[in-house]
Amino acid sequence: MTGRIEGKVALVTGAASGLGEAIVRRYAAEGAAVVLADIDRAAGEALAAELGGSATFVALDVTQEDQWVAAFQAADERHGRLDVLVNCAGITTVGSVEDLALDGFRHELDVDLLGPFLGCKHGIPLLKNAAGEGGSVINIASMASIRAEHYLVAYNAAKAGVTHMTKSVALHYAKAGYGIRCNSVHPGVIHTPILDKVLAQAADPDALYAEWLALHPVGRIGRPEEVAALCLYLASDESAFATGAEFVLDGGSSL
Ligand SMILES: NC(=O)c1ccc[n+]([C@@H]2O[C@H](COP(=O)([O-])OP(=O)(O)OC[C@H]3O[C@@H](n4cnc5c(N)ncnc54)[C@H](O)[C@@H]3O)[C@@H](O)[C@H]2O)c1
Repeated sequence: MTGRIEGKVALVTGAASGLGEAIVRRYAAEGAAVVLADIDRAAGEALAAELGGSATFVALDVTQEDQWVAAFQAADERHGRLDVLVNCAGITTVGSVEDLALDGFRHELDVDLLGPFLGCKHGIPLLKNAAGEGGSVINIASMASIRAEHYLVAYNAAKAGVTHMTKSVALHYAKAGYGIRCNSVHPGVIHTPILDKVLAQAADPDALYAEWLALHPVGRIGRPEEVAALCLYLASDESAFATGAEFVLDGGSSL
């Protein structure tokens, strides 16, 4: 099927790599105008150029409030509205409660929790004028918000936080009558560059990779395109009745 989000405008953070990249590729293929937002300017601009059409890149560090305001302004100037916001930018800080320093914990929360908060907040003026069945905010959480790991104290906290924040935001949008929905997506381990970054921080990378595989009852880890397919549904008017919900896509790993 093509054209499922024809004419919609979507801003995706973390769009230069991994899941964000797969999402903008799918959105563009389904007819949306995509605004790629990332701190990685070189990769983001290259991908926007490759996608062509109405795809554009905007530099955005999701921890910086003024940059969020500027990114939404850029989307408004270019397209005159916004229908979909995907909060996908993220990092995974490895460390237990005993060995992770305060700065590392804070930085993880800044990127993975404060970043989506700022997007959900400053996106309202644009998203409440979305076309069709209304605006859609998609927060990429993780199965790590459901299932804790001893070595992911900050990531677990940030992703659990974004999950519950999503419900509060969804309630606010609904009660305010904005016509914006807000849902969280919970992928299991998915094959993207973030895995290499986590393995590089591990004491025994081979053992950790084997542990990830064993975590998934289906016998494999996931593909970015599988997450993009779910995010396509959530961006489309087909998901108009879904809000405040946790969409788990994890090969059974949280069972
Ligand atoms: N890959 C997985 O196994 C997996 C599983 C569950 C959830 N997730 C979540 O999916 C999201 C994307 O992960 P990924 O696997 O694609 O990782 P990735 O490392 O491939 O991509 C992350 C992107 O975010 C960008 N980024 C990092 N910090 C940023 C900041 N401060 N401001 C703006 N952009 C920033 C990076 O430049 C990069 O382009 C993350 O939120 C991650 O926690 C990933």
